[in-house]
Amino acid sequence: MSYTEKLFGLDGVNVVITGGAGIIPGAMAEALLDCGAKVCLWGRGTGHPVQDAVDALVKTTGAEGRVFGVTVDTGTEEAVVKALDETIATMGAPTVLINGVGGNKTKGPFPETDIKLFEEVMILNVMAGLVIPTKVFSRYWIENKIEKASIINIASMASYIPLSGVSAYAAAKAAVMNLTLANAREFAAHGIRVNGIAPGFFVGYQNKALLIKNEATGELTDRGQAIIDHTPFGRFGDVDDLKGTTVYLVSEKASGFVTGVTIPIDGGFLTHTV
Ligand SMILES: NC(=O)c1ccc[n+]([C@@H]2O[C@H](COP(=O)([O-])OP(=O)(O)OC[C@H]3O[C@@H](n4cnc5c(N)ncnc54)[C@H](O)[C@@H]3O)[C@@H](O)[C@H]2O)c1
Repeated sequence: MSYTEKLFGLDGVNVVITGGAGIIPGAMAEALLDCGAKVCLWGRGTGHPVQDAVDALVKTTGAEGRVFGVTVDTGTEEAVVKALDETIATMGAPTVLINGVGGNKTKGPFPETDIKLFEEVMILNVMAGLVIPTKVFSRYWIENKIEKASIINIASMASYIPLSGVSAYAAAKAAVMNLTLANAREFAAHGIRVNGIAPGFFVGYQNKALLIKNEATGELTDRGQAIIDHTPFGRFGDVDDLKGTTVYLVSEKASGFVTGVTIPIDGGFLTHTV
């Protein structure tokens, strides 16, 4: 076994990825499968069916028998408890949770805020995207004395600076980064690590229309162009850019003393001042 395999090989590691049929979570799943992990994708029955994502990953990784799917709405605690039982029965006990559920639904001036949509975005990113799965998994690990478990949350550029017009999303993603720190500190006594990844701008299902005006020509919206102009690398992220950091944070051997950090993967977006 090479030194790299010793450090980053994930044989015997069982991972749950919520929102697993999404663009970013799906790429993370691919990387973890390529390193030998077993992965269970959790997703809703609507929009992007989780079984389609499982089938696609079997094709791209050849990981037949190591990738599973569970249909669950992570915004409901009882459903998450049930999904964890189902996952343990099919894949075995997970020791890694990637909180991939999230997204935005609203954009506009603050005085025009649609209160219901604001609440929905908070629920999507904070409750379904972190609080409920983290509560259920941490309780399971602590009660069963499972140590060396790990959680990865998905933050955003909006966790650091409120991007214009998306105050609900920005507030929710700031909460994600704050809870990453709080959970890391609290769970360390149980051997559980909690870290985050803050992607820059990647074209996903939820933000495509906001960034790209014409898919055939690649013409960008004004907002899409402004983002590129503000990104020193001058491009959107490619989901492959997220894979190395995902593997690093999941691997206990590579990052076993790392907790409470959120790593930006943003082509330098956060460094841009003028
Ligand atoms: N795309 C980007 O540029 C970008 C940038 C920064 C952060 N993020 C974050 O990364 C994460 C993934 O984003 P993406 O672009 O891949 O999004 P996506 O829309 O492609 O994937 C999200 C998935 O979560 C699922 N989902 C939503 N609510 C759910 C629920 N309650 N229960 C179960 N599944 C649910 C959706 O059906 C979808 O399949 C999100 O947290 C997003 O906020 C994305």
